[in-house]
Amino acid sequence: MSEHRDLTIHGQWSSRWTFVLAAAGSAVGLGNIWKFPYITGENGGGAFVLVYLVCIALIGLPIMMAEIMIGRRGRHSPINTMRILSQKEGASPHWKYIGWMGVIAGFLILSYYSVIAGWALAYVFRAAGGMFTGASAEQVGTIFSTLTDSSERLLAWHTLFMVMTMIVVARGVKSGLEQAVRFLMPALFVILILLVGYAMTTDSFMRGLHFLFDPDFSKITGAGILIAMGHAFFTLSLGMGAIMVYGSYMPQNASIASTSLIIVGADTLVALLAGMAIFPVVFANGLEPSSGPGLIFQTLPVAFGQMPGGSFFGTLFFILLVFAAWTSSISLIEPAVAWLVENHGMSRVSASVWAGAAAWLVGLGTVFSFNEWSDVTLFGKHFFDLLDFLTANIMLPLGGLLIAIYAAWVMTREVSRDELAMERPVLFGLWRACIRYVAPAAVTIVFLNAIGVLGG
Ligand code: TRP
Repeated sequence: MSEHRDLTIHGQWSSRWTFVLAAAGSAVGLGNIWKFPYITGENGGGAFVLVYLVCIALIGLPIMMAEIMIGRRGRHSPINTMRILSQKEGASPHWKYIGWMGVIAGFLILSYYSVIAGWALAYVFRAAGGMFTGASAEQVGTIFSTLTDSSERLLAWHTLFMVMTMIVVARGVKSGLEQAVRFLMPALFVILILLVGYAMTTDSFMRGLHFLFDPDFSKITGAGILIAMGHAFFTLSLGMGAIMVYGSYMPQNASIASTSLIIVGADTLVALLAGMAIFPVVFANGLEPSSGPGLIFQTLPVAFGQMPGGSFFGTLFFILLVFAAWTSSISLIEPAVAWLVENHGMSRVSASVWAGAAAWLVGLGTVFSFNEWSDVTLFGKHFFDLLDFLTANIMLPLGGLLIAIYAAWVMTREVSRDELAMERPVLFGLWRACIRYVAPAAVTIVFLNAIGVLGG
């Protein structure tokens, strides 16, 4: 191990624990609390959840280890890391296009992520103002549609959230963030448990659990499997270089396997808790599980409106949701910002402003897709749905597939063995089997299956 490998021009996490916090902060976000419940509702529940969990274990975990490993070995932005490592391994320089695709995917995801995070911001004030106290599901529905019908409001919250993201990225992902994640993540966890506790008091708790954990395979389609797999990438921040760039700031002596396991475990737990909190409330109030992106914004306020201290807990919940989204959004542009700093000698501040402004602009499409442009569709999807489908279900799995192939077939066995430094050879063998055969085959099969379904 040569000396210079421990250094990057961007600095390094102060400890292994900081890396875990930052990566978990990136993974846990709107994907867990907003997206997981609504796509589970749209795709029929249990069977979808099972496919998602299998994808997390067989594809997500091994690819997360691969991304961290590549990042830490390359010690640069994903684009340059792929270029430099390929040069060393005598492989084609074209592998750097994985980095490029990731930068583009990150922009596109951030563009709509910020709009949805804007909803959460808006809800902080609605909860604090007591608007949900005693509100019926119908009244909460009106509060939600009043927000999304107004392009001015969505634009204002989207702009505020994007500025928040730019500020943290400009200051450097390491400062400030460490402290924030340290106590916010446990707080989010506690409040989710509290919500599950409330869900237990409704008479629909068991029905919610059945919906989530009782698989009915007649309800799953090829497209549903693709969405479940895409979500495994999305929720773990994989396939576009976010975890890779965080890995490039990771200390050399930290264990990649055990940190990945902690991150994946925490992320999955948060998603399942969110599902257990939401579906009982959905059923108890006669709401539709398949009502789409508005699901949590239309159901959780009903719960807060009924429970004692609901305004307080509701406000706290949406504040924590904003923070969870914040620690995720910064990882979406970090690969681009790191590259701008490395290749264009930009300061972090101007790199963040340019990158954030570009994502903000694309975000206007999502803002309008909920109101002015809601009739403008392609393949029956409006702008937001199309963008989400293209990024989460196509670009991320494709990026992940290429990363797996790179880690397994381009990097040598010796390099990955040294870098992962796993204590038990059996586990290393297992990882290598997953990354070499299982993950690439699974992604390919899911893609082909979905295309077959689309073709009739
Ligand atoms: N994982 C985050 C969530 O679940 C979103 C996210 C952050 C992400 N960085 C990413 C998704 C990189 C894909 C790629 O909310």
